[in-house]
Amino acid sequence: MKTAVYPGSFDPVTNGHLDIINRSSKIVDKLIVAILNNSNKSPLFSLEERVEMLKLATSHLQNVEIATFSGLLVDFMSQANANIIVKGLRSVIDFEYEFQIALLNKVLDTNTETLFLMTNRNYSYISSSVVKDVAKYGGDLTGLLPEATIEIVKRKYKK
Ligand code: PNS
Repeated sequence: MKTAVYPGSFDPVTNGHLDIINRSSKIVDKLIVAILNNSNKSPLFSLEERVEMLKLATSHLQNVEIATFSGLLVDFMSQANANIIVKGLRSVIDFEYEFQIALLNKVLDTNTETLFLMTNRNYSYISSSVVKDVAKYGGDLTGLLPEATIEIVKRKYKK
């Protein structure tokens, strides 16, 4: 069974992420979307909120699971019996960084393969950071975020 992990902060999950999830879940038997629980970063959304939004966004996909992890990604992967890391690439800026990380993960665990999917051009400009900015100033989130999560993101800024 081919199990892959799509790791990230998902603060929050965007339509760019969802596109990578949709496409990669068709390539593997099981896809685990793994949310990093990182105490060094200060995410806007709690781990529970990020899990909830990912569950809502991926409810149509039977072979996708949502999980959280802390520590090294390769350690989480060996516990999950997965050896494929899925990453999306939007630009050469992403590439420079992701190339380094892919090599590092390969050194940490030689069984690991990183599978890069090129972004869908419709979503190449989307990132969690720009979406948060739009949400903060009350802009229209349609098309940027999975439909099922828009209200959760808006609510965050109403508080
Ligand atoms: O969405 P992000 O914040 O760009 O995701 C980064 C993530 C979670 C993929 C990366 O930071 C990660 O894998 N962290 C886990 C710790 C680890 O394994 N570090 C070594 C490789 S970066």
